[in-house]
Amino acid sequence: MQTQNLTSDQIETAAKLLSVGGLVALPTETVYGLAADARNGIAVAAIYAAKARPNFNPLIVHVASLDEAKKYADFNETALALAAAFWPGPLSMVLPLRTDAGLSELVTAGLDTVAIRVPAHPVAHALLERFGGPLAAPSANISGQVSPTTAGHVHEELAGDIHAILDGGASQVGLESTIVMPRTDAVVLMRAGGISLEQLGMATVLPIIQAGDNTDAPQSPGQLASHYATRATLRINATSVDPSEAFLGFGPECADADLNLSQTGDLKQAAANLFAYMREMDDIARTAGKTKIAVAPIPDEGLGLAINDRLKRAAAPRT
Ligand code: TXA
Ligand code: MG
Repeated sequence: MQTQNLTSDQIETAAKLLSVGGLVALPTETVYGLAADARNGIAVAAIYAAKARPNFNPLIVHVASLDEAKKYADFNETALALAAAFWPGPLSMVLPLRTDAGLSELVTAGLDTVAIRVPAHPVAHALLERFGGPLAAPSANISGQVSPTTAGHVHEELAGDIHAILDGGASQVGLESTIVMPRTDAVVLMRAGGISLEQLGMATVLPIIQAGDNTDAPQSPGQLASHYATRATLRINATSVDPSEAFLGFGPECADADLNLSQTGDLKQAAANLFAYMREMDDIARTAGKTKIAVAPIPDEGLGLAINDRLKRAAAPRT
């Protein structure tokens, strides 16, 4: 990961901005986040305002360690096992909010649970250590748009509304964290993401169930049907391409694609490229006078599940 262009001075400055209620965009291994002190209601409100985010959609709290996370959420055995397996890393856990957590209610949108994770990116980690508290951080994009995987993406959309952007290079995973609710009898999947179902399955003997399958497991309120929108209309699972469409390929058979998520059909590479290529495809389509993007089929395994989730949302009718 590229961190050489960040000095300890920049981390120090960012931590100071955060402690006085500022907004700082920070690199994580999944996507760039827009961070504020999770205990400061005014700062958290500024995140919602900068993103034009609907207030019912709660935020993920980022902390430096499991010990820090335990100050805000109650961990059952399942949660402890998943933390041991995947933290630091792209797994967020929805857990009961501690009554003495001291987080702004805007972070949890009034729920009695909190989503929490320990990010792996060295810059995010250094900032969290230096700041010494919990950071609420949604993806650093205007609500409903494609998530940012470079500092440049953040700059394009949010530069005027935030106080600093830390540049930690391109996000390595490229997809948001997997969100689960760890229960003593099951792990409930609320959002597919950077940790695959197969990886989760290796870390627990409990059944993994989909949030929608079970009435007592609340849906992630942020799972809006139309999300991650490109400007051009997106058509997924395209096995042929119309002349009116730009073509986003996957795998060696898509030699005629405008861009290929992975020439070799590698899902990790495709995930890392996904959001940046969705942005580039918009530019390619516009330059070519096209209003549609066709996307090649992506296998529904490993990270393909999360890639297809994001593509389906991007292709959904706009609300
Ligand atoms: O990888 C990531 O998770 C990135 C980076 C910056 O860490 N963050 C991210 O945040 O994707 P955001 O705000 O775009 O997505 C947060 C998701 C939303 O779908 C929200 O509804 C869900 O987490 N969420 C947050 N708190 C929740 C809770 N208490 N119960 C259920 N879902 C929750
Ligand atoms: Mg987001």
